[in-house]
Amino acid sequence: MEGNGGAGATRWNISRPSKVVDAGCISILAVLRRVYSSVDASGPRPVLTLGTGDPTACASFRPPPEAEDAIVDALRSRKHNGYSPTVGILPARCAIAEYLSQDLPYQLLPNDIYLTAGCWQAIDVMMSILAKPGSNILLPKPGFPLYESWTMFRNLETRHFNLIPDRGWEADLESVEALADENTVAMVIINPGNPCGSVYSHDHLAKIAETARKLGIIIIADEVYYHLAFGNKPFIPMGVFADIVPVITLGSLSKRWLVPGWRLGWIATCDPNGILKEAKVNISIESYINITNDPATFVQGAVPQIIASTKQDYFNKILDLLRNSADLCYGKIKEIRGITCPHKPEGSMFVMVKLDLSCLDGILDDLDFCCRLAKEESVIVLPGSALGMKDWLRITFASDVPTLENALERIKSFCQRHAKLEA
Ligand SMILES: *Cc1c(COP(=O)(O)O)cnc(C)c1O
Ligand SMILES: *[C@@H]1O[C@H](CO)[C@@H](O)[C@H](O)[C@H]1NC(C)=O
Ligand SMILES: *[C@@H]1O[C@H](CO)[C@@H](O)[C@H](O)[C@H]1NC(C)=O
Repeated sequence: MEGNGGAGATRWNISRPSKVVDAGCISILAVLRRVYSSVDASGPRPVLTLGTGDPTACASFRPPPEAEDAIVDALRSRKHNGYSPTVGILPARCAIAEYLSQDLPYQLLPNDIYLTAGCWQAIDVMMSILAKPGSNILLPKPGFPLYESWTMFRNLETRHFNLIPDRGWEADLESVEALADENTVAMVIINPGNPCGSVYSHDHLAKIAETARKLGIIIIADEVYYHLAFGNKPFIPMGVFADIVPVITLGSLSKRWLVPGWRLGWIATCDPNGILKEAKVNISIESYINITNDPATFVQGAVPQIIASTKQDYFNKILDLLRNSADLCYGKIKEIRGITCPHKPEGSMFVMVKLDLSCLDGILDDLDFCCRLAKEESVIVLPGSALGMKDWLRITFASDVPTLENALERIKSFCQRHAKLEA
């Protein structure tokens, strides 16, 4: 008898889950779980977290009431209780095409827009359809580890180009040229930047476009922080340069409307010269989207009203909050010996900070710093090694001011307590 676990039992041909395990290990949440596990739960002070990019627990970061009304109206209309077309319902695709076209020198059509379950699924779709045996993709370092997880899962080789801290975290385009070859399928740009808080100038974006054109590779522009730019440089979408290079823009409601839980994102093909269509990229995207999940239909149904009813005042208010928090964070970090910030944040919700281990006694590395900070001060920040940047930290400044002040004060005490005595 075979198959009952006795001697000579069937040797099941189940693939080892190594890829899943490895891909999961490099996620921000996995690293943060490790840091959290160091917290002394019996400690007297509340845990303050500057670790994740979800500020919705803070009283100041609330979605506009108009957007909440749009969801209620869509739900109550009873028009959105069924399945949606896999690419998304037409009114939502039209509204997003209009919304994005406001900043572009050409008009996007509803057919250029595919709705996804957050920008998260948009990344899944793009990494999945671009992967083919032997191909590689260029990713920024530091970047957003979800890209690495997906490329690993899809057997797409990753090559990292550096972002340069002293140049406002601009992409090192010489290294891009050195990394690319005939099997390179795309380069990814995240602007405004997570984790660096950078916003790219028109000039730098034009150089990126020219470099990609020279190499014959398309650009995936992660613009999930669309218009979250509060410094001196305005936000300019990569799609502005789509005449030079085909651009696939990824976005969502999550960050600008402060509703990451609504899971409404999109892929926009910015392709005025029809290069992507000629390569049948539109068919690949649709084929893949046809077999994956969609955002909830009533959230799709609310999109036109969300976009139409949210006033500029709301966006301005959020930008004021972020600017204020970023300034506070930057100023406070300057006072702390042991950490330095090479570039004042101008956008998104994050800043990268370098650890100076030579000033700190007995701290091994960034992970050790974060775990001990969690244990001794009940403050959570993300170790840079989660983003490929050993001995750096990522701090989220999208938080209520008292929390931010308190957390930075605790980081200061921690660094003072662990300061190496000067010789
Ligand atoms: C938050 C984030 C995402 C995911 O966005 P969702 O719309 O919440 O899925 C993607 N890319 C970057 C760079 C992000 O920071
Ligand atoms: C892709 O684009 C081509 C060229 O415009 C068009 O003929 C085709 O219908 C499109 N297919 C899909 C699935 O969008
Ligand atoms: C996706 O599904 C729709 C609806 O079933 C179908 O009309 C379309 O042809 C499919 N697209 C592709 C590229 O397979």
